[in-house]
Amino acid sequence: DLSGLDIRAEIERLRKERNAVILAHYYQKPELQDLADFVGDSLELSRKAAETDADVIAFCGVKFMADTAKILSPEKIVVLPDLDAGCSLEDSCPPEQFKAFREAHPDHIALTYINCSTEVKALSDVIVTSSSAETILQKIPADQKIIFGPDRHLGGYLSRKFNREMLLWPGVCIVHEAFSETELLKLKAQNPGAPIAAHPECPPTIVDHADYVGSTSGILNYAKDMPGDTLIVATEPHIIHQMELALPGKTFIGAPGADGNCNCNICPYMALNTLEKLYLALRDLEPRVEIEEDLRLAAKKSLDKMLEMAS
Ligand code: 13P
Ligand code: SF4
Repeated sequence: DLSGLDIRAEIERLRKERNAVILAHYYQKPELQDLADFVGDSLELSRKAAETDADVIAFCGVKFMADTAKILSPEKIVVLPDLDAGCSLEDSCPPEQFKAFREAHPDHIALTYINCSTEVKALSDVIVTSSSAETILQKIPADQKIIFGPDRHLGGYLSRKFNREMLLWPGVCIVHEAFSETELLKLKAQNPGAPIAAHPECPPTIVDHADYVGSTSGILNYAKDMPGDTLIVATEPHIIHQMELALPGKTFIGAPGADGNCNCNICPYMALNTLEKLYLALRDLEPRVEIEEDLRLAAKKSLDKMLEMAS
């Protein structure tokens, strides 16, 4: 029973006692973002995890992000407040099927979105995040054939933008898939002149209306330079918390789903992490992320390639 406990003070105490760093993704609840040592997009969080000298990484994000932290920092204890915090993209790409797909196309390299399992990373050549994908793709010779997985919308967006054919794995993010073009156009008409910023995990019906397309950090930076006072945000709405902190005078509206509001675009996996579960994770150093060493080394190759090519 945690009632009567000052959870925030306990997290503070344990953070010091354990020499822990708390990393949070922009899609986490505001209370978790607010007490994190660092809030960022997938690429920034991977870099932080690789560089930290803390003994414990408490990862407020989803499983593939905590796995990435463990792959890059194996000597650290990595805890995830809720181990069930998965990702629909990871679920869409079972390693056995991905392996068979690769084997059917031996002349292709696998350029793979970080939103996948460690096993799929181990079967890939280069990992990308949404903020590094464009830079990395441009460094791959034009005649090199590419498999892109698991997000067909990010893959399709890159393919159209760079006029580059790629074989796409048919995965989608259930959160970004839920935006409604009709409702978005209604919202745009109600807010004349307001730009739209969209994550590339959105389908083309949304991305085609966007004034800016990019990762969570990219969208946040765009908000800081945007024309006007109102922005329509087509990604998981918890990122709006950082926008409101940085730009208190401006208005941010989450893009709607078919019901006309943005609640259906809350990531159900990210939402599993809570302040109470973070406290328990720091107290018990459980649940921990563990990865078998051969698998870790195989997955590290494609992640290292990303860190090298992204800069
Ligand atoms: P980025 O933070 O890299 O833009 O990724 C978004 C996302 O969906 C993470 O699950
Ligand atoms: Fe996965 Fe989508 Fe949730 Fe990101 S927002 S963790 S891609 S389900």
